[in-house]
Amino acid sequence: MTVDFMRKKVAILGAGKVGATTAQRLAYTESCDILLWDRTEGVAKGIALDIKESSPLDGFDSEVEGTSDIKEIKKSEIIIMTAGAPRKEGQSRDDLLKTNAAIVKDLSVQIKRYSPDSKLIVLTNPLDAMVYLAKQTTGFPRERIMGMAGILDSARFRTFISDALKVSVSSVNGMVLGGHGDFMVPLPKHSSVNGIPITDLLTGDEIKKIVQRTRDGGAEIINLEKKSSAYYAPASSLALMAESILKDKKMVLPCAAYLNGEYGIKGIFMGVPVIIGEKGVEKIIELDLTKQESQQLKESSAKIHELIKQFDRIYK
Ligand code: LAC
Repeated sequence: MTVDFMRKKVAILGAGKVGATTAQRLAYTESCDILLWDRTEGVAKGIALDIKESSPLDGFDSEVEGTSDIKEIKKSEIIIMTAGAPRKEGQSRDDLLKTNAAIVKDLSVQIKRYSPDSKLIVLTNPLDAMVYLAKQTTGFPRERIMGMAGILDSARFRTFISDALKVSVSSVNGMVLGGHGDFMVPLPKHSSVNGIPITDLLTGDEIKKIVQRTRDGGAEIINLEKKSSAYYAPASSLALMAESILKDKKMVLPCAAYLNGEYGIKGIFMGVPVIIGEKGVEKIIELDLTKQESQQLKESSAKIHELIKQFDRIYK
């Protein structure tokens, strides 16, 4: 079977909760047709058909198809990698490294073979290491490969700020940089309510609590849900990145980008503000950070270096 699409094609690898929800979110935008892939025969097809059958009700014309044949990803504009084991209660994102490395590496080989010109967005945890592995394997230039984490972490930060101040979340801007782990770096100084710095509106203690809750955001949900890690906010984050590429919106979003000396860091992926447009990562924006923030970013990058060193052991 070959799927014929009229619009730009976005392939989503992995039809778990994040993959399925991302497919639905993207279908609503009508900015692309969607191919959902899963290795388990029937799963992606069933979910895709279910989403497609909601189109008369939700009023969208995007095509949504499912497949278990990886060759179908050919000529994708964007590939979104969600495949891999999710985090379970008591597990850190880093605990998933070995299991998910095998999956990400295998799929990256297929991406290189069947859709070498696509843009690749990685979500699989531990994110900063998995996107690095995908770059090593595909050899994609840094414009065309990025990781989703900062948008999710910033969305959590913004949600908690809006709750604390009882103001519309749409008036709240928030920025979280660094790795997608316990060492992420929320930036209160670069976070505001319609331009008013949150440091003028909240006490130091209140900000500290919000920062910690943001760092623990993923774990908070797993501890509540038990059976699943977060997927609504991660899926919305992925859809936003894809939309910014498809519509060449040039949104400024915190994403895991490959650093080549920016922020004094080289050779790893880490969350930084980037301009996302039709070419992918079009520009990395360097913020003026305080000494303490720079220090935290360095610590976060050291953790990512440690994590990717484990690949030397796995793949030597
Ligand atoms: C989260 C995990 C899944 O932040 O990374 O929700």
